[in-house]
Amino acid sequence: HAPKAAKSQPINGSPEQNAYMDDITKQFTIDTEKLIAIKDHFIVEMEKGLSKEKQTMVMIPSYVEGRLTGQEQGHYLALDLGGTNLRVVLVTLEGHGKFKTVSTKARVSEELKTGSMRDLCEYIADCIDTFLTEQNLENVDEDLALGFTFSFPVLQSKINRGIQTAWTKGFNCTGAVGKDPVLLLQDALLRKHVPVKITALVNDTVGTLLSNAYQKPETVAGLILGTGSNGAYVEQMTNIKKWKDGATTSHEMVINTEFGAFDNERVMLPVTRFDNKLDRKSINPHFQIFEKLISGMYLGEIVRNVITDMMDRNLLFCQPGQNTDIISGHYQFETSFMSAIESDDSPDLATVRETLDTNLNLIKVDDVELRIVKRICELVGTRAARLAAAAIAGIAIHTKVDRKGADIGIDGSLYEFYPSFEDRIYDGMAELMPDFADDIQNIVRLGLARDGSGVGAALTACVADKMFKSK
Ligand code: GLC
Repeated sequence: HAPKAAKSQPINGSPEQNAYMDDITKQFTIDTEKLIAIKDHFIVEMEKGLSKEKQTMVMIPSYVEGRLTGQEQGHYLALDLGGTNLRVVLVTLEGHGKFKTVSTKARVSEELKTGSMRDLCEYIADCIDTFLTEQNLENVDEDLALGFTFSFPVLQSKINRGIQTAWTKGFNCTGAVGKDPVLLLQDALLRKHVPVKITALVNDTVGTLLSNAYQKPETVAGLILGTGSNGAYVEQMTNIKKWKDGATTSHEMVINTEFGAFDNERVMLPVTRFDNKLDRKSINPHFQIFEKLISGMYLGEIVRNVITDMMDRNLLFCQPGQNTDIISGHYQFETSFMSAIESDDSPDLATVRETLDTNLNLIKVDDVELRIVKRICELVGTRAARLAAAAIAGIAIHTKVDRKGADIGIDGSLYEFYPSFEDRIYDGMAELMPDFADDIQNIVRLGLARDGSGVGAALTACVADKMFKSK
């Protein structure tokens, strides 16, 4: 699991540097009172989304009714699109909460992410085809069932049908919004004679919930805290006031909250000018504002915005001969650098120095500057974790978690690798749920749900089977 963050040292810079740091510390710090207000607003927004269509938090019924028992068995294919990589996974469910996976990964280039959906689907179909050949699965009698994890907002109308409403996380393909991603991909598979039938469409958060529940039946929610951020949870049908699709086989349904869009109106979130700059230059300005404050895709860029602002004011990296070409380029400061920097507990901040040198070619860096960069990372990283805590506490309180407790499965690079991300979430949650603060880790039990998107999609294909057979 992730290392501990090393607390940043006092800056001890020039009066101007110190004053600047005090100012941004105020801007990036969310105190308990503010955090409570954010959590309360989050719950109100959840309820709005459950009662009406077209709300900011769309609260999408996933058509996954109920959870699993852990006894399910069989072979399923899964496809995962929506994070950094595209993956094809063969999942073997062995029962007793156990499973095995074999998978292959492919990078999705910037051209594919912003080209036409037809090209993207053909590329995916080719990847699946190659995988089937490698696994000796290409000559099967019956089409293989595939669960498709498509981690973007899709208004579902069935477990394997839906209409995509937007792109997020830097994707922006033409010919996709307003259409059904299942049909688009199925067409490409047909064109290329790949013997696969898409039987389930699933958001990664829903997959994460299911895969966690396969091993821990007390699971109430699944979250992604990675490239993007979002959560799904188990809702009572009677609370889904907007539901018009008739009777279901179960009294529960998994809801994909799409909480990355929380407070797009910005009535509550403490958005700084550094966040606004990132938002304006993004592929989807004004959208996914909560996601932009807490996700791996964006945190490094927020840090970079602070750093370059300090450079403009001659407060950082202004020694003669310093080369600031790389740091001046968009998205050149990656969130993974923050992880390395925050875990540096050496007195001379050797890792901070090395990170700046190797990745950004910043060489003439003094000790004050090292401390400043580390503090900026700490501010941005801590704010992200506390905001994530507001969302998790919101879901926990809405679902009426009690002393018996509940499990929440989380996947994603921030949760898995960012130093102290989980500790900071728990600190925030203790402030937000004071009645449970004494034992918060046993009441809202966060845990890594590895490969929620792969295994989860396979499990959804399995749920689809079950639902189909019960009807
Ligand atoms: C974005 C997508 C959402 C997904 C999340 C995590 O927020 O809109 O569907 O679950 O990223 O990948």
